[in-house]
Amino acid sequence: MAKLSLNVNGRMQTVDADPSTPLLYILRNDLDQHGPHFGCGLGQCGACTVLVNGSAVKSCQVPVGSVKGAITTLDGLARDGRLDRIQQAWIEEQVPACGFCQNGQMLTAKALLDRNPHPTDTQIREAMAGVLCRCMTYYRVQAAIKRAAGSPTTTA
Ligand code: FES
Ligand code: FES
Repeated sequence: MAKLSLNVNGRMQTVDADPSTPLLYILRNDLDQHGPHFGCGLGQCGACTVLVNGSAVKSCQVPVGSVKGAITTLDGLARDGRLDRIQQAWIEEQVPACGFCQNGQMLTAKALLDRNPHPTDTQIREAMAGVLCRCMTYYRVQAAIKRAAGSPTTTA
């Protein structure tokens, strides 16, 4: 066990943990962050996605002791009571079905738009390919990303 300091949604938190513990477990079990979900535990579904220094990572595959920098979870997207443009677009497009994958969809989309403000449909599909949705919300996810980017919605 070790004392580890983590910056989660702008707040420094200290946990006692084995550094090899997956970040996902620490976030959910120790830090009350219930946005990231345990889906496969194998790095293949994306339900556990969080941002580390703005990049989308699958937190089930990241040892907590290796994390350097700011972690953002779904709870950290809204600022000063205002929804992030991703959250607003998700509401306007009525994206979720069961909701299980949507944490990963929104945070992966957030990372995409922060590095590429006007992605093409192909770039969206490539960026989102690692986040699976058993409810097949993919077209609404794509429409919401286009809406958040301020781009005309297209399908192809
Ligand atoms: S739970 Fe992490 S990728 Fe599936
Ligand atoms: S909304 Fe149900 S798994 Fe994606």
